[in-house]
Amino acid sequence: MATTKLKEAKSIFVANVKGGVGKSTLSIMLARALADNIPPQNITVIDTDLQRTATEFLTNSNPEINVEFLPITPAFENTNISLVQQFIKQNEFRPGHVVIVDTPAGSSQRLWNLVAEGYCVLIPTTLSNADLYPTENFIRSMDKVKARYGKSYPHLIVCPNKIPFGQKDFSLMAERLKNHDVVIGPALRDLASVRHFYNGKLENWENRSNTNAQSDFRQFGSFIEKYVLDGELDKIYSQKDGGKNILPFEKASN
Ligand SMILES: Nc1ncnc2c1ncn2[C@@H]1O[C@H](COP(=O)(O)OP(=O)(O)OP(=O)(O)O)[C@@H](O)[C@H]1O
Ligand SMILES: [Mg+2]
Repeated sequence: MATTKLKEAKSIFVANVKGGVGKSTLSIMLARALADNIPPQNITVIDTDLQRTATEFLTNSNPEINVEFLPITPAFENTNISLVQQFIKQNEFRPGHVVIVDTPAGSSQRLWNLVAEGYCVLIPTTLSNADLYPTENFIRSMDKVKARYGKSYPHLIVCPNKIPFGQKDFSLMAERLKNHDVVIGPALRDLASVRHFYNGKLENWENRSNTNAQSDFRQFGSFIEKYVLDGELDKIYSQKDGGKNILPFEKASN
């Protein structure tokens, strides 16, 4: 039998200063999408948001995926930040494992320092200026942390979210982000079925084969497998001139 080499462990943060941009939804759906292809016991979602969104829904929808609730608030900050740090450090010695950290909105330097310890940061945002301005500020803060410690990690991936159906042109966003060290990931559409996931019965959601949500998140999951878990992003980031700001699935999406 052929021996397959286990992939290096990766920790993925989902973060943005802006609230309501889809951080928890992306954390949940990404974990679910990855669980189709890698053993769910190798996936851990750390929910650091006191609102417990990821914990509540994932425990119900996918009990086989590990969920850790470690809220980071001013009161708990010190202890739980250290616990998340420890978790990520230990994860490095568990090949084939993935840790996804859902973070709360808001700006705390200690949280940014923690986020900067990950392999990559997924930054969901809509195309609205109300979200893009704070998102750019967040990217600047992350770049500062990286520069301060002279690090090339984490890779920053902007994830266009709640995109109107039919929108295929992301050049304005790409233009706007071109001076930042970021990659633009595949877009997630404005999906009514996401609301059904939160409000409805899970069986109904699962039984609806081929919903738009399932296809968008599946595509997003494949993007993460190839670019993050298989290390394709390292290649993009190691090219000194250009190559960034790509929309890897721009042509593939329909
Ligand atoms: N692709 C999408 N299409 C439609 N609605 C979405 C999508 N992604 C997220 N939403 C909705 O947007 C709202 C906010 O999403 P979510 O809770 O994931 O954001 P968040 O960034 O985690 O918020 P918070 O900052 O409060 O933690 C939810 O009502 C969710 O259902
Ligand atoms: Mg949230």
